[in-house]
Amino acid sequence: MTIHARTERLILRDWTTDDTDSYAALSADPEVMRHIGDGQPRDHAYAEDFIKRMIQHQETRGWMRFAIEHQETGELMGFSGFDDKNGPLDFGWRLSRPFWGGGYGFEASAAALWVGQNTFGLTKITAQSYPENVGSIRIMQKMGMSQIGDSEEFGRPLVVYGFPAEWPDGFKP
Ligand SMILES: CC(C)(COP(=O)(O)OP(=O)(O)OC[C@H]1O[C@@H](n2cnc3c(N)ncnc32)[C@H](O)[C@@H]1OP(=O)(O)O)[C@@H](O)C(=O)NCCC(=O)NCCS
Repeated sequence: MTIHARTERLILRDWTTDDTDSYAALSADPEVMRHIGDGQPRDHAYAEDFIKRMIQHQETRGWMRFAIEHQETGELMGFSGFDDKNGPLDFGWRLSRPFWGGGYGFEASAAALWVGQNTFGLTKITAQSYPENVGSIRIMQKMGMSQIGDSEEFGRPLVVYGFPAEWPDGFKP
């Protein structure tokens, strides 16, 4: 089990199959999933497949969507990190609802970005959001990202953020 970063309140770490039920509960919450993909909550099998895929990545290349653990309580809070399942390197974050609004999203994601860039040398990182997900876009801005393009998913417009110096010609979906 690799610990990738510790922040004041959080640990960014590898996943284990013990995280499955907590991650499944988060993924079944319609409020958490409202601005993700088709906006539908996911079932237990989704969580099992996701964690299986994360474990494969951590055993091979080391980076993935890092699990976020609360230092004090040991609870699994969600993830922040990177995925290339759909092509461009996508930086994303997701927390279970009791942890919203306390600065954890930014705290975890700033640490995940540091790990991605410094431990794993990742570049050309993008982050995408539906425009109405203002908290998520605020996290991108606080990390120094700005809009590099547009895209769409499920018939909904998406804004694409990145570090503009890495995208001199903008982002082409
Ligand atoms: C997006 C998410 C990770 C934010 O986590 P969080 O811990 O509540 O965010 P933080 O407390 O670190 O807030 C970061 C910034 O966004 C702002 N913010 C967060 N949620 C907000 C909201 N709903 N409306 C307006 N601003 C919001 C905060 O005020 C803060 O900005 P500030 O420092 O300038 O005040 C969390 O809401 C979540 O998991 N949502 C569901 C999954 C999701 O949508 N993921 C992103 C897909 S693109």
